[in-house]
Amino acid sequence: MKGAVFTEFIEFVEETYGFDTADIMLEPDSDNEKIYTQAGNYPFTELVTLVLSVHETEKVEIEEILYKFGVYLFGKLVHMAPFLVKGSQSSFEVISKVDTYIHIEVKKLYPEADLPKFKVIKFETNHLEMLYSSDKQLEILAKGLMIGASNYFHETIVVDYKIVSEEPHTVIFTVDKI
Ligand code: HEM
Repeated sequence: MKGAVFTEFIEFVEETYGFDTADIMLEPDSDNEKIYTQAGNYPFTELVTLVLSVHETEKVEIEEILYKFGVYLFGKLVHMAPFLVKGSQSSFEVISKVDTYIHIEVKKLYPEADLPKFKVIKFETNHLEMLYSSDKQLEILAKGLMIGASNYFHETIVVDYKIVSEEPHTVIFTVDKI
């Protein structure tokens, strides 16, 4: 997984849960200090370890951490690559273009990126349905990113999802604009 995701996660933990929680996460014992660079690439299991550390220190649900991180991450990703949303007027436009445009451009910038699949199955003015599939099972992060997109466009959306298959891990998202 891209180093940028790790460096953003560290900033997110510092801002949301404080420096002490971030320190425990990055230095779980005196001879083990975790360092990540934006240009690096790290195993997904490393991110899981960091999330679990925050979960244990803060006694907050893993889902809550990943959801909040998704909301936070959208703004940071857009800051890193503003051209990706430049022509878009709404969150639906961005969300529906994740697979066919945004992540394609991401892959050009970072060929090592391992990205999920997002297929639009229904696109109406105020209602969107998409299928997400990824062995990382990060649908809650995806939900956070979608809400982050709606915040960016000052809109209100409601995001629901349901797991429809375990192998491959596939989730149906319904997104409603209100
Ligand atoms: C609402 C919009 C978006 C959604 C729903 C979305 C969804 C996701 C999800 C769920 C992942 C985790 C990987 C997985 O599930 O397998 C991911 C990874 C990623 N996304 Fe997006 N994304 C969005 C927008 C963006 C934007 C605007 C960028 C701009 C740079 C971006 C760049 C990335 C990168 C760099 C990764 C990490 C890939 C890796 O580490 O290998 N995404 N995205």
